[in-house]
Amino acid sequence: MSGSSPILELLGQREIVVACGPGGVGKTTTAAAAAAQAALRLGGRVLVLTVDPARRLADALGIKEIGNEVTEVPAEAFVTADGAPVGRLFAAMLDTKKSWDDLIERHTPDPATAARIMANPLYQNITGRFIQSHDYIAMERLYELHSTGEWDLIVVDTPPTRNALDFLDAPSRMADFFSSRLLRWLIAPARSGLFAVASKPFTQVADRILGTEFLGDITEFFVSLQSMYGGFVERANAVARLMADERTTFLVVSSSETVPLREAEFFVSQLVDRNLSVGAVVLNKVLPDSLADPGGLAAARGLGERAGEIAGEVAPVIGVDEEALVRVLGTIAESYGDFAVTARREAGARSRFEAGGAPLVSVPRLDEDIHDMAGLLALGNLLIAEP
Ligand SMILES: Nc1ncnc2c1ncn2[C@@H]1O[C@H](COP(=O)(O)OP(=O)(O)O)[C@@H](O)[C@H]1O
Ligand SMILES: [Mg+2]
Repeated sequence: MSGSSPILELLGQREIVVACGPGGVGKTTTAAAAAAQAALRLGGRVLVLTVDPARRLADALGIKEIGNEVTEVPAEAFVTADGAPVGRLFAAMLDTKKSWDDLIERHTPDPATAARIMANPLYQNITGRFIQSHDYIAMERLYELHSTGEWDLIVVDTPPTRNALDFLDAPSRMADFFSSRLLRWLIAPARSGLFAVASKPFTQVADRILGTEFLGDITEFFVSLQSMYGGFVERANAVARLMADERTTFLVVSSSETVPLREAEFFVSQLVDRNLSVGAVVLNKVLPDSLADPGGLAAARGLGERAGEIAGEVAPVIGVDEEALVRVLGTIAESYGDFAVTARREAGARSRFEAGGAPLVSVPRLDEDIHDMAGLLALGNLLIAEP
């Protein structure tokens, strides 16, 4: 089977598969489903690194909310009709705060400096929202996990960013920031003692709004951070290199609605521009092709137009109220019509979609949300279906 499923092929060949794309399209679910298929069918030690799993999905994977611990999903959880898994599945969730603390500890020369940085009131704030810290730390954590060499495959979920490209740029932006003139300028006054004079009006305003401590905190923060700039820049560059390495590929996930598709297409073109590997494009939650069939729409129209007549004949046969049946038939005809129109539009958008030469895999919308291993396996089977 692995010969002709583009997704299984990727999972078998690469060490890192990054699920990315617009928000709400199924990145987290697809990453988990793909990892489960890899563990089930391909073997080895497979890790799914999730960012924002729904509570019930996290429970199903055995992920604890706090901490960066990796947990193994018990093999019993994904025994299927095809048999027991040949590999092992592990899951972890990204803990942004914990990952930042680890990073600081690693890059500071001594525990006292690390403690001073973490005790700074700005640190909490900054790790929460500064310079796409979430995006950066996701990549950083991936790098860390990959370099342990413990995993044959890591499938990575990506954070819900406003701009799907933010996380891609995060490492280089981080490197730029820590080698920037702005930063040198920020910390220079603290060393030269000129700060108070040069920025008096600003200080007064800042003091009034933010309290006297504020600027002192800022300066102290950047000064204590200074010891780790070099390591930081080097590391951010290494993360960027890993993303571009041939062992890494991107799985662009999208729904087949017009707007996410356009965003996904842009994303693909950006990956191509950056010489990053587009492994496949997954169109998730697509409506069944049969809905786009013109015969179905004609049938729905006919049913709607002659609902009264049909109900008159059928109501006595099934022993229901005729008027109620007219309403039911009318509603069925109307919503089928709506679905048919949407399906046709989606099929049109899909055919215009440029996947940059990557295989395009469609996964239907399932009836229920996916929040347990059974759901993940069902979705995974569709994901690896041969085209
Ligand atoms: N093929 C599908 N059929 C039905 N529901 C799906 C499908 N794919 C994802 N979902 C559901 O859609 C919601 C969003 O999925 P999620 O993976 O969290 O998206 P993202 O990570 O891109 O924001 C979840 O509730 C998930 O269970
Ligand atoms: Mg998600």
